[in-house]
Amino acid sequence: MKNLKDHVVIVTGGAAGIGGAITTVLTKRGASVVAVDLNEEAGKEKEASNPEQIAFLKGDISKESVAKEAVKLAVSKFGKLTGLVNNAHASKQKPLMELTEADWALSMNTGLNGTLNFMKAAYPELKKSKGAIVNFGSGAALLGQKNQASYAAAKEAIRGLSRVAANEWAGDGIRVNIVCPLAFTEGVAQWKEAHPEQYEEVAGKNPMNRFGDPQKDIAPVVAFLLSADSQYMTGQTLMADGGDIKLT
Ligand SMILES: NC(=O)c1ccc[n+]([C@@H]2O[C@H](COP(=O)([O-])OP(=O)(O)OC[C@H]3O[C@@H](n4cnc5c(N)ncnc54)[C@H](O)[C@@H]3O)[C@@H](O)[C@H]2O)c1
Repeated sequence: MKNLKDHVVIVTGGAAGIGGAITTVLTKRGASVVAVDLNEEAGKEKEASNPEQIAFLKGDISKESVAKEAVKLAVSKFGKLTGLVNNAHASKQKPLMELTEADWALSMNTGLNGTLNFMKAAYPELKKSKGAIVNFGSGAALLGQKNQASYAAAKEAIRGLSRVAANEWAGDGIRVNIVCPLAFTEGVAQWKEAHPEQYEEVAGKNPMNRFGDPQKDIAPVVAFLLSADSQYMTGQTLMADGGDIKLT
């Protein structure tokens, strides 16, 4: 399926994990991708796997200058920008009384500020191309899961920001939607090893009885939200979580 032919998309955290899978799936569907990531080894490997369609930019997504650089690279290398996926988000899981200023800043800077900076940097190009933005929320934030205060606060702020942008930018032809994934990644694998009983509990209560696969279960939902198939959708949260949470 080449339904993203002629699309040019920035994917933050696009070298590994869910973002890495998104980079791969978007290129398979015909898009070119600028993958922004701190992980240089994985990023270079991604770019080398398909240098025609993937450009890697090493950078910290919480910096405004990196957002601007990513947009510049998309336009200089691929001629335009049609999509933005704000996927990367770093945070510490702790009881809220133990959260330090630095923990709070890490989640807000990479999650909320990074998302805002990339949206603002991408806006002029997305306005030209009538493009689409996909931001990332989380079931952990919707549920208010313990130990997730800084993460949940940033994730729900991202959903609020996305709904405002959906309204403000609909007239410009820019759509903004949110995906809340549940997927087995390197991070989840580490968590499973540290807390096997907690992992079994989450996997066990999932209606589909499993964690999602980043490439088969999450990336195609992102691709859909970037494609013309979702052209009448904006401001929506899509749960790609095996039915864990049903939004009403
Ligand atoms: N995995 C899940 O089940 C799950 C559940 C709910 C929400 N999410 C959300 O989905 C998104 C992706 O999750 P994941 O599990 O693939 O995450 P991950 O931590 O495995 O991967 C994130 C990628 O982002 C990069 N990254 C981290 N901080 C960065 C920074 N400051 N600048 C540039 N790159 C940076 C990492 O190097 C990595 O390649 C995140 O927004 C996460 O909160 C994931």
